[in-house]
Amino acid sequence: MTGIEFNRRLEAIPVYPAAESYAHDGEIVMLASNETPWGPPPPVIGAIQGRLETLNRYPDPDKSVLRRRIAERSEVPMSQVAVGNGSCEILLAAGEALLEPGAELVYAWPSFSMYPHLAAQSGARAVAVALDADGYHDLEAMAHEVTAATRLVLICNPNNPSATALELDAIDAFLADLPRHVAVILDEAYVEFNLLQDPGDSLDLCKKHPNLVLLRTFSKVYGLCGLRAGYAIGPEAFRLAVDRVRQPFSVNALAQAAAAEAIRHQDEVERRVEQTIVERVHVESELADRGLPSTDSEANFAWVSLGDRDEDAIVAGLAERGVIVRAGRALGEEGRLRVTFGTRRENDLFLAALDQVL
Ligand SMILES: Cc1ncc(COP(=O)(O)O)c(C=O)c1O
Repeated sequence: MTGIEFNRRLEAIPVYPAAESYAHDGEIVMLASNETPWGPPPPVIGAIQGRLETLNRYPDPDKSVLRRRIAERSEVPMSQVAVGNGSCEILLAAGEALLEPGAELVYAWPSFSMYPHLAAQSGARAVAVALDADGYHDLEAMAHEVTAATRLVLICNPNNPSATALELDAIDAFLADLPRHVAVILDEAYVEFNLLQDPGDSLDLCKKHPNLVLLRTFSKVYGLCGLRAGYAIGPEAFRLAVDRVRQPFSVNALAQAAAAEAIRHQDEVERRVEQTIVERVHVESELADRGLPSTDSEANFAWVSLGDRDEDAIVAGLAERGVIVRAGRALGEEGRLRVTFGTRRENDLFLAALDQVL
């Protein structure tokens, strides 16, 4: 007897390359998933606790408090704000709402590891355009790949895993030349760490380009990835479309309460950004001293070039010492490490372990 028969698209869907876990007795330094090293601040914990006793009730399907706070902060109408179970959920829903066999999707590569899922799950054709030699999106090459069949272009800015960011002017010019029926998702999961712009600057682009959707998350600087909350700002039609293809209660009550509180504490966001940038400068210069150049990071992680050193041996050697980072190969480019910036202590443990491994 044969087993269950699954649909034919399943085989094409990549398995998410989760960070490996290694057996290690001592302290584990988690620098593999671009998280923040800080737990939620007390008011956010208070907001989560405040919702615990009414968990017998479904979450608000309209996510109205959270959407209102995002809308107020972003100075856009609430109708243009979609909230998801992490920004990943919005991405996958966008794939379902926009793509189908015969349609095309354009994105840079290496980029966020979920992007290939959108094509695989829908049967659309993925067009992956190589980053340039310095790890930046090649917008000109991407524009060349846009055809009458293109429904969606993904731009990850700053890009995961290469950490680089484009100037908004370049994205603006790219959008100006694109046919209006093509949706563009500007994935800004790391926007707060990007010193080339203020997070508010890309909102101005939305006003100019009605086919643009900004994708943001509470997983990174807000430190709530364990609860799952992300959002999109774009045309109302986009929100209505992604809401149609998802279950109504996908964003749980604790995530809504936590994110709605977290967004009110921009002083905390600023503090975290400042500390991350201090660590970014520290780690990058220490790596450069060791002959390990990294790209110009505008994110909370470094994309480190290993030259002809053995990537697997370095990742395994670090893991044996309790330091978990990501191997470049798993993310689309061999001979690289992606290392999240942690606290000073965590970063120095990483550097000390690296010295031993090298
Ligand atoms: C570029 C990018 N976009 C989106 C996400 C998804 O974040 P979440 O689903 O936690 O909001 C990530 C997470 O690592 C990311 O790196």
